[in-house]
Amino acid sequence: MNINMHNIIKKYENKTVLNIDELEIKKGLVTGIIGPNGSGKSTLMRILAGLDNDFTGTLHIDEQEVNPEISKHMTLVFQKPYLINTDVYHNIAYPLKIRGKSKSEINSKVQQVIELLQLESIQHQNANTLSGGELQKAAMARAIVFEPKLLLLDEPTANIDPQTMLLMENAISYINQSCSTTVVLVTHNIGQLQRMCREAVFMREGRVEKQGALRDVLSNIKGTYIGEFLEPEL
Ligand SMILES: Nc1ncnc2c1ncn2[C@@H]1O[C@H](COP(=O)(O)OP(=O)(O)OP(=O)(O)O)[C@@H](O)[C@H]1O
Ligand SMILES: [Mg+2]
Repeated sequence: MNINMHNIIKKYENKTVLNIDELEIKKGLVTGIIGPNGSGKSTLMRILAGLDNDFTGTLHIDEQEVNPEISKHMTLVFQKPYLINTDVYHNIAYPLKIRGKSKSEINSKVQQVIELLQLESIQHQNANTLSGGELQKAAMARAIVFEPKLLLLDEPTANIDPQTMLLMENAISYINQSCSTTVVLVTHNIGQLQRMCREAVFMREGRVEKQGALRDVLSNIKGTYIGEFLEPEL
């Protein structure tokens, strides 16, 4: 799915938290969203997911306004994921169940993502008892199980150990490549950005300061956002 935004303004009371003249996210790619704390990344993700309609301007996904049919094909993994009060298996099965899939299809798809994200040992554990990292892995599994056309990820690997981070990055790449899923990935991890994203958007104080090829965005913000000492490989 491709995304186009024009003249988006989002305010909380009198404070403007988003002020985006123009933003384009290209279909089928993994686009990184970066920027300092409080620059509006999570606010933008909630608007893209259709969870916040309290803004002015236009948002088009595949040339249409967000509607129930489009919403069925997209999902947002929150910075702080929320799972329902049942075991991991049934949390992952849930998106397929509400889309009316058959029992056998549900079982085979759930097993596939359990394997992909190595959740075998916790699949029968209640979601409320998971560690922070396990919760994020389970939330990722639940998001990719129905093969969304648009996958919105808000810092999906914050608090994740290095090996599990690679496992999750592989799962994101897998869904992007096998289902042509468009992925929007908010991250503070420059290495992750370089491993995952061809395109990037840099936000500061609610504005899109730079968007385009990752290479160009990184070279533009080097020394201002990314310290010179980090020396991203360009
Ligand atoms: N419900 C709210 N009421 C008032 N202000 C809010 C509300 N939600 C968010 N904000 C403000 O909007 C701004 C953008 O917040 P947002 O969560 O989008 O930032 P972010 O870029 O995701 O930051 P981080 O990197 O810390 O996750 C912040 O200044 C925040 O304090
Ligand atoms: Mg955020």
